Amino acid sequence: MNKQFDQYTNGFSLSGDLKRDISLFFTINEDLRTLEHTLDVTAEAHRIADLFTIDPNQVISASLLHDISNVIPVSTMLDVAKELSIEILEEENKYNRSVHQKLSMFMAKDIFGISDREILLAIESHTTYRAQASMTAKILFVADKISWKLPGEHPHLIEMRERVNNLEIDKAILIYLNYIWEQRDKLKLVHPWLIKAREDLIKVVY
Ligand SMILES: [Fe+2]
Ligand SMILES: [Fe+2]
Repeated sequence: MNKQFDQYTNGFSLSGDLKRDISLFFTINEDLRTLEHTLDVTAEAHRIADLFTIDPNQVISASLLHDISNVIPVSTMLDVAKELSIEILEEENKYNRSVHQKLSMFMAKDIFGISDREILLAIESHTTYRAQASMTAKILFVADKISWKLPGEHPHLIEMRERVNNLEIDKAILIYLNYIWEQRDKLKLVHPWLIKAREDLIKVVY
């Protein structure tokens, strides 16, 4: 394990039960807010996997691990990613937290010993989405957005839930990508993976 993670793994060891390990990991790092979000996303992702009658195991693992990098202070995320030789896109330098998905993927491998490529790639693109995503990546992406309990429900989230429940997951994803795209002038960064994925998805969905 890389030394950058020593401070986050003091007194931590793997039990083989990922849900238990993730709960312990966030507890020792005093991040119960992310733990709560993680468990909400995992429950929603499991529900969606069942809707599509697919084996939920990869989806559950990806969901449990997707935000583990939240234990790293946002202000240091870019520096930590650079120290770990994680490839950083020029655009990602504009916004520290943009690399949190790549950091979570790295930590899933390094701290939790995950080697399943589908799980790792789903974690790596859970905020930006990415072209040619697996079903695991699609479900994690959608569950991460629609499980948020935001005050005052947002119309795009209601519409996404309806699409998911109709088994139209690509349409649900595109609703979100369009929602981001429409705000592009106000945002610090619209990730190039999102831009490319949106262009591809428009061709498939319409
Ligand atoms: Fe995230
Ligand atoms: Fe999340």
